Amino acid sequence: MQAAIYPGSFDPITNGHLDVVRRALSLVNRVVVGVIYNPEKNPLFSLEERMDLIRTLFKDEPRVEVASFSGLLIDFARLQNVYTIIRGLRAVSDFDYEFQMAITNRHLCPKLDTVFLMTDVDYSYLSSSLVKQVARFGGDVSSFVPMEIELKLKEKLGL
Ligand code: PNS
Repeated sequence: MQAAIYPGSFDPITNGHLDVVRRALSLVNRVVVGVIYNPEKNPLFSLEERMDLIRTLFKDEPRVEVASFSGLLIDFARLQNVYTIIRGLRAVSDFDYEFQMAITNRHLCPKLDTVFLMTDVDYSYLSSSLVKQVARFGGDVSSFVPMEIELKLKEKLGL
């Protein structure tokens, strides 16, 4: 496989996401991290902030690109001319939603396939929402996110 898209909200990117990108890089030559612009979700970090943070974390990894998309993932895939989607699976609880998305996407675009990568067990409970919740109440998130993200979270939340 030449390239794959790793789509998500990344609000913010966590160690679990980074683990998935690293695993994907051992399978494909290039990973396009696709950051969704979805104002309805009311993200903590703006699209630019989320993208900048990911770019900073992968500044020494030229095989990782960061791009944004809105609307359908299949249209982004067509635009990128990349038809392999990477998604992380943390636990069985992720499966239903991921299965629905993967099948819907393939129905809409038959040449598109989704590859699921199991995250490290250390991150099997981790989510961006959980990280934001812990950070909001002053909890220690240093084992959940890289230092750059921890600092940005503190700044954003006025801590
Ligand atoms: O990090 P997330 O929030 O779990 O990522 C979900 C995402 C962005 C991958 C998903 O919501 C998505 O692909 N949205 C684009 C809309 C779309 O294509 N919907 C049809 C497939 S279900």
